[in-house]
Amino acid sequence: MENHKRLKIGLFGFGVVGEGLYKVLKQTPSLKAEIKKVCIKHPGKQRNAPSNLFTTDKDDLLNDEDINVIVEVIDDANAAFEIVSTALKNGKAVVSASKKMIAEHLPEILQLQLETEQPFLCESAACASIPVIRNLEEYYDNDLLHSIKAIVNGSTNFILTKIIEENLSFNDALLLAQQLGFAESNPKLDVEGFDAVNKWTILLSHAYGIVEHPSNILFTGIQNIQLTDAQVAKEKHFEIKLVAQAKKLQDGKVAAFVLPQFVKQEDHLAFVKNEYNGVVIESGFADKQFFYGKGAGSFPTASAVLSDLSALRYGYRYEYKKLYHHNPHELTQDFYLKVYVSFDDWKFISKEKFEWIEEWHAGEERKYLVGVLHAKELYNTNWWKENKISLILLPEPVIENVDIVKLKKRSLELAGII
Ligand code: HSE
Repeated sequence: MENHKRLKIGLFGFGVVGEGLYKVLKQTPSLKAEIKKVCIKHPGKQRNAPSNLFTTDKDDLLNDEDINVIVEVIDDANAAFEIVSTALKNGKAVVSASKKMIAEHLPEILQLQLETEQPFLCESAACASIPVIRNLEEYYDNDLLHSIKAIVNGSTNFILTKIIEENLSFNDALLLAQQLGFAESNPKLDVEGFDAVNKWTILLSHAYGIVEHPSNILFTGIQNIQLTDAQVAKEKHFEIKLVAQAKKLQDGKVAAFVLPQFVKQEDHLAFVKNEYNGVVIESGFADKQFFYGKGAGSFPTASAVLSDLSALRYGYRYEYKKLYHHNPHELTQDFYLKVYVSFDDWKFISKEKFEWIEEWHAGEERKYLVGVLHAKELYNTNWWKENKISLILLPEPVIENVDIVKLKKRSLELAGII
């Protein structure tokens, strides 16, 4: 696309994000971007825009040569992939907010960008208003990025805040997240961690050049967290957060997962409440950096789409430097995790699966233990998600192979066994 070119937009979707973008664009005339047509699924709905703007025929947008950018903010991942592929092949730049679609079709989307040489930008697909993708792309060299941990789902963070700090019930908190437009139309995607792992898949490609299907990343959501877990967290002066993280290990491989975690009160992520997201990056020389901003909602998400549109005017595209210009990193399952596990009955827990157990407590209702598991145990089994078992990582949860023998010996000494 020519520099500073006027953008003629074909917009797919007029829900929370689409309508937000429509309003935001009206307030930013300096961007020189205009929505020519909006493609929607249900024509009967009352909408706050002139009716001649709308169509239900996707070809009205995809085949219009006057339209040079397709913005796609729809819910249906399969339809979104169709739209994005056709748009790129038809020589149009694309801005997309469809996390699920991008995560599930990452290899194809990378290939399409190479073949068509069209830009594909998706800043709004991860952490909404926080400019995390462009930062990971442009700012951090591969060698220097030691770790990245983040709260990437606004709804679950909102629900945890409301339940733990304001005593709302889970259902009331979820309903509120839905009413405020934070939750996915199928809220299971938020609650059970699917949305977070989709976003993490996207961010891993920009951070480390890792291209993996989300199903190959270890994850769960907040569905099994109990109020008793929140009480334990309080006693230990921790917060509970759903944390996505990636850490470069000493062998150069990357440990990456999305799991609930006890977070120390002085940790930056403890400060992230409600629908806000936060990203903590540890890199060589710079040490720690913290990004914070709204991670869901109409205008915060539209602001990221707007920023992508603005970047398109200046010919910006992702270079995927970590993937194409460095040695891309590999994911590993070969590490250990320090976990807290709470459960109703000991019969659901096989103690021998733990490398060691350093604390346990058996209350009438709920019991818990703190111990160390090999990550493969979590990758390859599901017992820790079943029977209302709640697994929460401890702060600094990753233990590397090289450290495990030393730590095992120390824990046995402390327990008085050797
Ligand atoms: N459901 C998503 C969230 C919306 O709660 O984070 C923003 O991607």
